[in-house]
Amino acid sequence: MCQSCLSWYARCVAPYIVHAGCSANAFADMRKRMIPRAAGFVVEVGFGSGLNLPYYDVGKVKRLVGIDPDGTMLGLAEPKSRSVPFDVDCIRASGERLPLADSFADTVVVTYAFCTIPDPEAALTEIRRVLKSTGRLIFIEHGQAEGTRCRKWQERLNLVWGRFAGGCHLNRDPLQLIRAAGLHVVEAERDRFRLPFWQLGSHHAGIAIPGTG
Ligand SMILES: C[S@@+](CC[C@H](N)C(=O)[O-])C[C@H]1O[C@@H](n2cnc3c(N)ncnc32)[C@H](O)[C@@H]1O
Repeated sequence: MCQSCLSWYARCVAPYIVHAGCSANAFADMRKRMIPRAAGFVVEVGFGSGLNLPYYDVGKVKRLVGIDPDGTMLGLAEPKSRSVPFDVDCIRASGERLPLADSFADTVVVTYAFCTIPDPEAALTEIRRVLKSTGRLIFIEHGQAEGTRCRKWQERLNLVWGRFAGGCHLNRDPLQLIRAAGLHVVEAERDRFRLPFWQLGSHHAGIAIPGTG
């Protein structure tokens, strides 16, 4: 495919494909269990089309700031943002440069976005900066499979998959990224994706807190 077709696809088609894919039932179960645990001032990095919004506990969230660089995704999130009873600010920005003060957030939520953010290490440094020392990162991610056969397929498919799925990488290790950023993973569960999403590999959910060092 030529370069201008690829950039047209990335702008005009990929956001709808990603929204449709992330709306699948395979992702709903982890959202249902993890998202209600967010509380206080919440920042969601890689907010996308706002698919977590129905799962927030309205009694616990004071305000939600949704960060995403993709205007089309934020446009899809807008009607849902207006339908929840707490304040939602959607900000078009990158996770690598969060337009928020230090220690702003009680909770940072990241779901299926460390796979896509071009520089996840920089985004995690920013997440640490905006998290209060008592705050928590809630994450749900996919990444490197445990089995070598699936892992090999993830490596083979990675480039093409990324082009068609909004820049998503199949071969990242979210737990390793989170730990390398100096966050302590205090809860982690791991499952694996099945058909038709087997290529997404491992399915992770958990909580991480700022380290002391
Ligand atoms: C697979 S989607 C997941 C969306 C949403 N979190 C969900 O669970 O449905 C990945 C999201 O990461 C966003 N993204 C891409 N680059 C980013 C960056 N540099 N900083 C923050 N988010 C980014 C994409 O625009 C997209 O909305």
